[in-house]
Amino acid sequence: MESFNEIDHKKIGPERIRLLCSTIIEGDSYIALQKLEDESIQCAVTSPPYWGLRDYGIDGQIGLENQLQQYIDNLVVVFREVRRILTADGVLWLNIGDGYTSGDRGCRAPDKKNQARAMSVRPGTSAGLKPKDLLGVPWRLAFALQSDGWHLRSDVIWNKPNCQVLARMIMFWTHSWAPALWAKWPLDIREDSSAWN
Ligand SMILES: C[S@@+](CC[C@H](N)C(=O)[O-])C[C@H]1O[C@@H](n2cnc3c(N)ncnc32)[C@H](O)[C@@H]1O
Repeated sequence: MESFNEIDHKKIGPERIRLLCSTIIEGDSYIALQKLEDESIQCAVTSPPYWGLRDYGIDGQIGLENQLQQYIDNLVVVFREVRRILTADGVLWLNIGDGYTSGDRGCRAPDKKNQARAMSVRPGTSAGLKPKDLLGVPWRLAFALQSDGWHLRSDVIWNKPNCQVLARMIMFWTHSWAPALWAKWPLDIREDSSAWN
C-alpha cells in the first residue's frame, strides 16, 4: 500500500483508481479531495463528525466550530469538492446526525458507559437557538447542499433500536439517524431500477 506522499497525485484519475482497486489517502478531507481529478469517482460514502458531540483531537477538525452555521458552511465547502470529483452519474451517501444545544455547558463529562465521549470543549448555544433546542442539522445541511447545487434524491432513516435514552435531559436521544442519498445531476434511471422513481 502506498502512503499518501508516495502517490503521484497528477496520475490519480479514473484509470489509476481502477488499476489500484483501493488507495487509502489520509489527511484533511478538503485538502485531500483537491488532489483528485474532476469526475474521477462514482460513489462517495461518508459520515462526517456531528456538530459539538465529540473532540477527535486532530487539527482542523470539523464539528467543533463555535457556531452551527460555521459547521454547515464548512461541510458545504467540503462537499463542493466531492461534487467536483463525482462522475455525472455519481452519488453521495451522507450519514449525518443531529444533536441538541449544550445549554452553554462548556464541557461534556465522561460518559460512564463510554469514556471516549468526554469533551473538554463544547460549542455554546448558537445564534438563533435556545438551550436544549434540537439543532436540526440534517435539514439545515440538506437545504444548504441543495442551494449549493446538489440534488437530494432520498432521505434514508437509520433505525437504531439500541440508542441511549437520557430522560434526565428532558429529551430523547433520537433513535433514528438520517443518512441521505445525493446526486450530482437529476438522473432518471427508471429503466434500470425503480429505486429512483
Ligand atoms: C463520525 S467519524 C467517522 C467514522 C468512520 N465512518 C469510521 O467508521 O471510522 C468522523 C471522522 O472524521 C474525522 N475528521 C474530523 N475532521 C476532519 C477533517 N477536517 N478532515 C478529515 N477527517 C476529519 C474524525 O477524526 C473522525 O475520524
